[in-house]
Amino acid sequence: MENAKLIFQGKEYEFPTFMGTENEMAIDVKKLRDLTGAITYDPGYGNTGACKSSITYIDGEEGILRYRGYPIEELAGELRFSAAAYLMLFGKIPTEKEFTDWSKALTQNSFIHSSQVSFLDHYPATAHPMNILGSMVSSMSSFYLHDSEDEAHVSLNIQRLVGQVKTIAAFSYRKSVGLPYIYPRADHSYSANFLRMMFASPAEEYVVPKVMEDALDTLLILHMDHEQNCSTSTVRMVCSSMANIYASVSAGINALWGKLHGGANEAVLNMLTMIHQDNDDYMKYVNLAKDKNSNFRLMGFGHRVYKNFDPRAKLLKEMVDRVLEEMGIHDPLLDIAKNLEEVALKDEFFIQRKLYPNIDFYSGILYRALGIPTEMFTVLFAIGRMPGWIAHWLEMRQDPDLRIQRPRQIYMGPPLRHYEPDGTLM
Ligand code: CMC
Repeated sequence: MENAKLIFQGKEYEFPTFMGTENEMAIDVKKLRDLTGAITYDPGYGNTGACKSSITYIDGEEGILRYRGYPIEELAGELRFSAAAYLMLFGKIPTEKEFTDWSKALTQNSFIHSSQVSFLDHYPATAHPMNILGSMVSSMSSFYLHDSEDEAHVSLNIQRLVGQVKTIAAFSYRKSVGLPYIYPRADHSYSANFLRMMFASPAEEYVVPKVMEDALDTLLILHMDHEQNCSTSTVRMVCSSMANIYASVSAGINALWGKLHGGANEAVLNMLTMIHQDNDDYMKYVNLAKDKNSNFRLMGFGHRVYKNFDPRAKLLKEMVDRVLEEMGIHDPLLDIAKNLEEVALKDEFFIQRKLYPNIDFYSGILYRALGIPTEMFTVLFAIGRMPGWIAHWLEMRQDPDLRIQRPRQIYMGPPLRHYEPDGTLM
């Protein structure tokens, strides 16, 4: 590809260009400020490539999502979560032996230190589980060695993070309802263990329904990575200062919590419940979302990257009917969601702005069918996203272009002024 030319203040400058695997074009502006004295202005980083990555490919116009080259449609529903996590982290589908060893390592490292449990015990009963998860993961760097240069530490810490995130999540739920904790079992899959730790009674054997185990695997895989989204960029930003893996990932968990990002799944359920309580008057809320004088948005609609459809939402919509039918559930919130989608997809406001249902629109209805309480929805997103965050942390450590991330700004505050002391503030 030929160089890009920029004419600025009467002078012409050339910048190298390059192409990604799928012909995505980039202009390398690393030298822009040195050559021209100017910087780029790109709030929200909609046009800024912060790194080269080999993990996930998205084509937002075509609705394409691939992990390590594999289309999401070929992975979700076809692999166990831990096999997909292996692919995400190590770049290849595991052999049967690798899968068995990896699953065993994850179970062995899913037990949490008893001091961590007592730490968890002291959160107030009203604590939000996302807050518990973020700070419990951050505190893991107090419990485990975490030298980022030591491959043995790194490898164990990866297993601990992927293994323990579900244990911490399930324990935070058990604590909130006052039930004793249940530990994982080696003969259960990742998702089956999570469901058992959430819902088993200590008094009797709990058989994890297969429909629930499979649905959870699919949900977690669909959430596993999404290239440079807000939480993953946060993990990379923190990692760039050479912060340890626990510090980096816990920052990602906190970024995910916001309602424009992973917190949207909880917000969608709250919105659908509100509409249901308002006599199912969904048109009122469609109109509110279009009203410039209101801050209301249809939660679960729109995406920075997808401008045609979100392939994850498409898969979930197909799955939601099947799973609810198999489980014998009729959820009035699903009817509202379908009505909202139908109306919005025909409405000029949404068509012009290319606003489509995203992954969070239908995931909550599935979580609800699995018996997951609403405030745990974003925690489920975090469990699924964990291998993705770690894959980016690993990739970044090896990146020859790695520099501490440090954007610039254009200062728009007061010009130079002087303070004249009068002694009153001393
Ligand atoms: N409902 C109504 N209007 C909307 C919505 C919505 N959900 N989303 C965007 N718009 C409008 C927005 O008001 C703006 O209109 P105008 O051009 O007239 O000012 C236009 O569409 C562009 O919006 P934007 O905020 O500039 O778009 P963005 O790319 O910065 O934001 C988004 C993307 C996902 C944050 C946004 O669409 C949104 O707030 N959606 C609702 C929250 C949500 O569902 N988030 C989950 C995202 S998917 C999961 C994940 O990866 O985190």
